[in-house]
Amino acid sequence: MIRNVLMAGFVLLGAATLQAQERAASLDASVQAFLDRHRGTWRDFNVPESDGKVLHDLIVKRRFTRALEIGTSTGHSGVWIAWALARTGGTLTTIEIDPERHRTAVANFKEAGLDRYIDARLGDAHTIVPALSGPFDFVFSDADKDWYKNYLVAAWPKLTSGGCFTAHNVSGRSMLGIREFLDHLETLDAETRIDTSSPAGISITCKR
Ligand SMILES: C[S@@+](CC[C@H](N)C(=O)[O-])C[C@H]1O[C@@H](n2cnc3c(N)ncnc32)[C@H](O)[C@@H]1O
Repeated sequence: MIRNVLMAGFVLLGAATLQAQERAASLDASVQAFLDRHRGTWRDFNVPESDGKVLHDLIVKRRFTRALEIGTSTGHSGVWIAWALARTGGTLTTIEIDPERHRTAVANFKEAGLDRYIDARLGDAHTIVPALSGPFDFVFSDADKDWYKNYLVAAWPKLTSGGCFTAHNVSGRSMLGIREFLDHLETLDAETRIDTSSPAGISITCKR
């Protein structure tokens, strides 16, 4: 009797594992096909594919699950971030102020098969970010550069220990707001590194 119950349990577990593996493989195929179809078509200040991959790999490596993106545009980085979160069992909140870009991003997330992992908000991140309760273990800042420091100040207390605040286009230190942002990073209790493989510059700052 006990043997039969155990056997049935193993069979059910095996079937559930197989189903989960099939779902993951089908999602991978859907996202990969989406990225292949859209390669070379990203025109709305989107990150290059190599930078999307940097974000994806960081999330998977550190097993992050609670992500925030500031500046969705039409959703290229969002697709890479959400793809990683689909692997870790997480979700992404992403914010865009431009209605047309927001609409296109929502359509892209659906087309990629990732919409269930994403809460895409239309609005001003200046007010939305401070109002979010968090906690987050991953933040990607890619909206208005002159507000980068303010986003950092608002999001840092909501970042978990070991969580990372990442920011795009930081190699232009002379750009309005970037110097102020980088100077503020230096004051934080964090391990900081600049990913030099990205020409645009991605700063990755993880909380102790
Ligand atoms: C560099 S693009 C983001 C690219 C996107 N991360 C990607 O790779 O696909 C910056 C976006 O931030 C948006 N943005 C600028 N200021 C904003 C604000 N205050 N609140 C929300 N979004 C903002 C812009 O409309 C623009 O679409």
